[in-house]
Amino acid sequence: MSEKRQLRLGTILHGASGNMSAWRHPAAVADASINFEFVKQTALKAEEGKLDFIFVADGLYINEKSIPHFLNRFEPLTVLSALASVTHRLGLVGTLSTSYSDPFTTARQFASLDHLSNGRAGWNVVTSPLEGSAKNFSRTQHPEHALRYRIADEYLDVVKGLWDSWEEDAFVRNKESGQFFAPEKLHALNHQGDFFQVAGPLNIGRTPQGRPIVFQAGASEDGKKLAAKHADAIFTHHETLAEAKAFYRDVKNQLEAQGREADSLHIFQGVSVIVGKDAEDAEQQYQTTAALVSVSDALNYLGRYFEHHDFSQYPLDEPFPDLGDLGQNSFRSTTDEIKRNARERGLTLRQVALEAASPRPRFSGSPEEVADGLQRWFEDRAADGFIIQGGTPDTFPRFVEQVVPVLQARGLFRTDYPGTTLRESFGLAQPDNRYGK
Ligand SMILES: Cc1cc2nc3c(=O)[nH]c(=O)nc-3n(C[C@H](O)[C@H](O)[C@H](O)COP(=O)(O)O)c2cc1C
Repeated sequence: MSEKRQLRLGTILHGASGNMSAWRHPAAVADASINFEFVKQTALKAEEGKLDFIFVADGLYINEKSIPHFLNRFEPLTVLSALASVTHRLGLVGTLSTSYSDPFTTARQFASLDHLSNGRAGWNVVTSPLEGSAKNFSRTQHPEHALRYRIADEYLDVVKGLWDSWEEDAFVRNKESGQFFAPEKLHALNHQGDFFQVAGPLNIGRTPQGRPIVFQAGASEDGKKLAAKHADAIFTHHETLAEAKAFYRDVKNQLEAQGREADSLHIFQGVSVIVGKDAEDAEQQYQTTAALVSVSDALNYLGRYFEHHDFSQYPLDEPFPDLGDLGQNSFRSTTDEIKRNARERGLTLRQVALEAASPRPRFSGSPEEVADGLQRWFEDRAADGFIIQGGTPDTFPRFVEQVVPVLQARGLFRTDYPGTTLRESFGLAQPDNRYGK
């Protein structure tokens, strides 16, 4: 009999919580984005719940209208390296952009994190949606959407090639003979491509996971194609079960077209949750948090997705404005979704902005009700797992203490880690080295 399929769980570090004004909440740690003790306690809580990983998103451009969490936060690899020494089983997944970095440095940094954590590193590959990023990296122009994905594709080829530089047992370190490494197990990449010329080899050995786990976040056609070719996991976000199922089917079909097994890539839906005594209590918690957001903050929040567009120029209580192609070169899949949702539901600008800045939790209510929602999406093949974001500052501990046990009792989630690495938590095979072992 085959084993029951189990879902996988991560949590996202997002300052005080997903709501942009949550830092004002009575229960919030107001400086959570830059408070290592808070981060550490969140990670330890995640590990207590046997979660697969903690996830750190990132961005490379801010202005005075950016949300509080983005104004003052840790760089992902730095904070994950600190977490590596205080956690033992939790996967450590960090975002790094292929549009504003070098493959050699990236390969080296994530290999280092994988060694430091004994096999728990994950890289969330993004292409950077914000035009302003160019100004922080001595560039005159932000590469457009299709070009960013062409760069990302070659970039991943290079990084994976560099991670194969050393075969697993290359470092013999024989004190008697004086042989430090076996030369036949060292391989230079000598990559010559459209965007990168990288000789290699990498100056760090093969990592405990063979190579770190690769996540991809970006849901456009090009984003899905990149994931189907290169990724072990996708971080995505869909409003409805039907959309999530369609996305899931599409990605799994593309995987098969690439000659990969359907279960060699896990699809994670990012979901916000609020856990209460019952539905009424959860709704009360939501209202308390939502009331913290002002309309002008909400307009700024919405504007960021559309290249920091100034929405204050439009009437608030008329239908959402026609923005033409705005957003196509930034958060394409997200802005397409916002426009479509506004059109189909006939929403005003005020409604769209407030919903974006203070999203209703995807699943809320009693622990059983939250578990029901996750179970439904999982069993309906809308997701292989979830990245949990607390809808209020004090939700996440409740999720671990009250919802995880329900999922475990239903046989939907593990009661212990199956091994020591993120790859083992994901049930993924150790990758082959292209040159041998
Ligand atoms: C769920 C989700 C999470 C994302 N997280 C990040 C992030 O942390 N940092 C970042 O620079 N871009 C992030 N992106 C943006 C993508 O990497 C990409 O640059 C942008 O969305 C355009 O790609 P797309 O149209 O394929 O979604 C995210 C996108 C999605 C859909």
